[in-house]
Amino acid sequence: MSATALPTLNLKGRTALISGASRGIGAAIARMLAAHGVHVILTSRKASSCQEVVDTILSSGGSAEALGCHIGDPEQIQAAFASMRAQHPQLHILVNNAATNPYFGPVLDTDSGAFQKTIDVNIRGYFQMSQAAASWMAEHRQGSIVNIASVNAVIPGAWQGIYSVSKAAVVSMTQAFAKECAPMGIRVNAVLPGLTHTRFASALTDNPAMRDEVLKHVPMGRMAEPEEIAGAILYLVSDLASYTTGTTLNVDGGYLIA
Ligand SMILES: NC(=O)c1ccc[n+]([C@@H]2O[C@H](COP(=O)([O-])OP(=O)(O)OC[C@H]3O[C@@H](n4cnc5c(N)ncnc54)[C@H](OP(=O)(O)O)[C@@H]3O)[C@@H](O)[C@H]2O)c1
Repeated sequence: MSATALPTLNLKGRTALISGASRGIGAAIARMLAAHGVHVILTSRKASSCQEVVDTILSSGGSAEALGCHIGDPEQIQAAFASMRAQHPQLHILVNNAATNPYFGPVLDTDSGAFQKTIDVNIRGYFQMSQAAASWMAEHRQGSIVNIASVNAVIPGAWQGIYSVSKAAVVSMTQAFAKECAPMGIRVNAVLPGLTHTRFASALTDNPAMRDEVLKHVPMGRMAEPEEIAGAILYLVSDLASYTTGTTLNVDGGYLIA
């Protein structure tokens, strides 16, 4: 039997686009991928908001740039991809991470503005970013997309109805793209984070009573740090996961154990 080269976590020479990378989980993903040799393109609504993370990566010897792209605006997605295509020969990795959660309250009171914003960013945004990235990746018959969903895709969060609906759609989208894009050499997977220490979750994490109520259901008894979510993304985009597509990886301290 011939010895096969072992796959590694070295991603040198690859380029990744990470949405929502100005802070929180997206910033940790950008730093994690850059530390493993990836040229990372950090986006959020304003390029300037990503500059501090870009500077941190550059000062650690990594390669990074910032780009503005509101993922709820289809024209901005088109413009961002046109600009990236003009500057980079290939996109190897897309991490759909930027999301919104504008409404916290009873599902029956969800107003149409909050409903539409959640759909536009969390579903249409992820979908159109995936379309643009996969079309480009297909030209090279190589690519990996990771969608950041949430444990709320499986168990709706209290007073987070439309957000939970949007995250369930992200899981379905992951499977739909995985099935159609596999013959093009593109893998598509989702990560389902549990409660993670970021600004996004501060309404919960800054309120000791609410935080403790959630943590009662987390076997590991604590929330995640953003870097612990980023590790899962590193694995999924690497060659270690070369036979993995259409899956969901829970990174939740055991929350989703039945
Ligand atoms: N934190 C948690 O407990 C938790 C749990 C499960 C899942 N998640 C998921 O993890 C992902 C990241 O969340 P996080 O906790 O890291 O949030 P965060 O700290 O609030 O960061 C959100 C990022 O998204 C960007 N962003 C927001 N709206 C955007 C838009 N329309 N277009 C482009 N960028 C936008 C923000 O940048 P700008 O404001 O500069 O645009 C920021 O970089 C989300 O998909 C979230 O649903 C989080």
